[in-house]
Amino acid sequence: MQTSYTYASALAASQRINWKVEDIIGGGKRLDFDKPFMPEALARVSAVDLPAREKLLLNQIRGNGYLYLFGLVEEFILPFLLDHTRPRLTPDDARCRAFLQFAGEEAKHIDLFKRFKAEFDDGFGTACAVVGPPDAVAKVVLAHKPLSVALLILHLEWMTQRHFIEMIRDDTGLDPQFASLLRHHWMEEAQHAMLDTLMIAELTDGLPEAEVVAAVDGSLEIGGAFDGLLKQQAAFDLDALEKASGRTLGEAERAKLHEQQHQAQRWTFLGSGIGHPNFLGTIGQISPASRKRLEEIVPVFA
Ligand SMILES: [Fe+2]
Ligand SMILES: [Fe+2]
Repeated sequence: MQTSYTYASALAASQRINWKVEDIIGGGKRLDFDKPFMPEALARVSAVDLPAREKLLLNQIRGNGYLYLFGLVEEFILPFLLDHTRPRLTPDDARCRAFLQFAGEEAKHIDLFKRFKAEFDDGFGTACAVVGPPDAVAKVVLAHKPLSVALLILHLEWMTQRHFIEMIRDDTGLDPQFASLLRHHWMEEAQHAMLDTLMIAELTDGLPEAEVVAAVDGSLEIGGAFDGLLKQQAAFDLDALEKASGRTLGEAERAKLHEQQHQAQRWTFLGSGIGHPNFLGTIGQISPASRKRLEEIVPVFA
């Protein structure tokens, strides 16, 4: 497959950007719980029939789950990257350094998101349950073929780009500290999307299309399991909302809200990535039939 990305340029860009966790969280940098954390395009809490205070609480609960789920997926991305890099440390030094830098950045993001969660738990005042644990999820994901996992990661990286550029960057109403975390994360993820594309090119070099189709099946299987986690997370989020607001939702109200928030989670983590033009562009190069199949799936997760 064709790509204009190179290991050397991705490495150079990531070295220019590289930030420290301490520069962006802790000390005087605090979350402002009077402000929303998530853009409405992902949270989708405006349209629901809730008092303004509960909408704000649900938005912040979603923000907590959003960063937690990033940390969760990064816990399988990190070992996957190391496994992919290890068999070919030479002779391409730029390749080796770019993948190790990528792995180091994901380890840093995992650390950042854990520190965020501790600060959130402290400031929000209500415990918010989350799906997982990450090591159990990683075990299930990493049992699939490397190409299935690599395609899933490519999807996640382009998804992150889309969230920031289309939905977060111009939203001036968000809590500045939360927006700063998302901006710093996005800056490093841009190189990850390039490196994932190069990884897919390596993994599919000389591979018959039937094997790509089978790998896409594997990715969709992981996506289906992830959808189950998103449904569970949406339920946890409503439990947290009830606790934080002190109001129990009516049965019909809760069922409606759960369906609506599950769909919002599906759009956030599945639809917005699967439908990304660059993700579909790469898939189209290695298997035109798979691109068509994925395009047909996107509306389910919109
Ligand atoms: Fe990351
Ligand atoms: Fe990443």
